[in-house]
Amino acid sequence: MSTPATLRIGVIGCGHWGPNHIRTFSTLEGSTVTACADPDAQRLKTVNRLFPAVRGCSDYRQLLADPEVDAVVVATPTGTHFEITRAALLAGKHALVEKPLTLRVAEAEALRRLARTHWRTLMVGHTFLFNTGIRKLKECVASGDIGRVYYLHSTRTNLGPVRKDVGAVRDLAAHDVAIFNYLLDAEPLEVSARGERFIRREVEDVAFISLSYPGRVLANIHVSWLDPKKVRQIVVTGSKKMLSWDDLAATGPVMIYDKGVFAVHGGVYKEPYYVNYGDFQLLTKEGDVTIPHLKLEEPLRAEARHFLDCIRGAPNTLSGPKVGIAVVRALAAIQDSMDAGGKPVKVR
Ligand SMILES: NC(=O)c1ccc[n+]([C@@H]2O[C@H](COP(=O)([O-])OP(=O)(O)OC[C@H]3O[C@@H](n4cnc5c(N)ncnc54)[C@H](O)[C@@H]3O)[C@@H](O)[C@H]2O)c1
Repeated sequence: MSTPATLRIGVIGCGHWGPNHIRTFSTLEGSTVTACADPDAQRLKTVNRLFPAVRGCSDYRQLLADPEVDAVVVATPTGTHFEITRAALLAGKHALVEKPLTLRVAEAEALRRLARTHWRTLMVGHTFLFNTGIRKLKECVASGDIGRVYYLHSTRTNLGPVRKDVGAVRDLAAHDVAIFNYLLDAEPLEVSARGERFIRREVEDVAFISLSYPGRVLANIHVSWLDPKKVRQIVVTGSKKMLSWDDLAATGPVMIYDKGVFAVHGGVYKEPYYVNYGDFQLLTKEGDVTIPHLKLEEPLRAEARHFLDCIRGAPNTLSGPKVGIAVVRALAAIQDSMDAGGKPVKVR
């Protein structure tokens, strides 16, 4: 079956996020949105007012039976991702599934197998992997410019929005785990997390998470729905330079600090880690701070374009099933650690 020049997209779930996908795929070259599904009549009415050409239905199975839908976006509560995506792949549709891919690792792995056997594209909506600032961090880390990465730290807080389907970890930390795995090109080996359920009994609204990555790289994530300030920040500390990312900064999201702590050993600069304590002197280096000029693009638009490219044969490695499964695996370990009062949990 050849891929049509204009891919016809169906969006399942038209709550807060689904309409953003409708807007994006409707305005992107190479795609159009033909249908949407949501059991909530009010949500369908709102979408119909905004996008009158998109056919609405209350049952996603009706959308999956529509031959005028080549691919779907699953933007429903996380607990429904597995069932809906499984049905979509079985119906022969490509699927872009919102993060996190599923609740359980076994479900995510089953979806990967299904996508393979049905030759369909399965991608996860890890939007921040399409964020220009995060891409710049990756460039700095991968080029070796910042030296060895010592640690990463992320803060993702706000007052709400409080979700009902999952806690702050699966909602917010899903982004940070995806970003850290991407920056380090690795999965965490072990996690330890403390979380608390202050406002709802079922799910945690605040969490402090520590992750150990291969090569003694430490990472820390603070997520909260109960914070006075909206913060979206990451710090990457390397042996030669340091980086910061602030998604809300007016000056530009990325700053590169030519700062570090060095050991002088026999008149030569070295990383402190590699020399004996007796033989070296530690010096701090205060250098320039650079704010690189970045051509910003809406991440959701870049993500949608990548999905279309993947359906047309581009490698689906940036946010494909392997990436999605790794995030689900880390989130499950974080949940286990929180449930055990902060006990370290091996990720694999
Ligand atoms: N990538 C991002 O930056 C980002 C941002 C926000 C949300 N999300 C993700 O998007 C998904 C949806 O989040 P949201 O904030 O829009 O949630 P929401 O609760 O506002 O909307 C979910 C919608 O799905 C509908 N729904 C529930 N079951 C359904 C079913 N069986 N078939 C069709 N529709 C169904 C609900 O009626 C609701 O309208 C979640 O997985 C969330 O993690 C991602």
